[in-house]
Amino acid sequence: MPLTPPIFILNGPNLNLLGEREPDIYGHASLEDIRLACETKAKALGRRVDFRQSNHEGVLVDWLQEARSQACAVILNAGAYTHTSVALHDAARALAIPLIETHLSNPSARESFRRRSFISPIAQGMVAGFGVLSYLLAIEAAHALAKTRETEHNSEET
Ligand code: DQA
Repeated sequence: MPLTPPIFILNGPNLNLLGEREPDIYGHASLEDIRLACETKAKALGRRVDFRQSNHEGVLVDWLQEARSQACAVILNAGAYTHTSVALHDAARALAIPLIETHLSNPSARESFRRRSFISPIAQGMVAGFGVLSYLLAIEAAHALAKTRETEHNSEET
């Protein structure tokens, strides 16, 4: 049986500093801690994750384009680019697979400039405000959405 494509978990700028950066807002877990927790969660659901971080908008665009053919779903924490990037909006728009916007903090409860998201209008849904748990809940959602699509796809083939 062919391997199901992984869930891409894409992290944007400054998330490499997690654990050191504003722990009162983002918690004490490092990005590596989050990666390990995501891998464990995905494994329990019979999924794989491809977990990445970049500080560069264009690299995130490239990864979203790659996800079009290489992922079953995308979990995107675009960091500050969430609130600024039309390029990420357009790249996410071109996805034909589920996209889940994810944040450690709850941007709506913070400064007003964080209330606007260029990702939300095209995401299937958003998980925010639960720290590391946001990622784990997003994996559950991605898994459920991908499973529905896989079941539909299989029944079309038979
Ligand atoms: C963030 C929220 C964004 O507003 C912020 O710019 C980040 C992190 C979060 O995960 O809570 O870098 O995406």
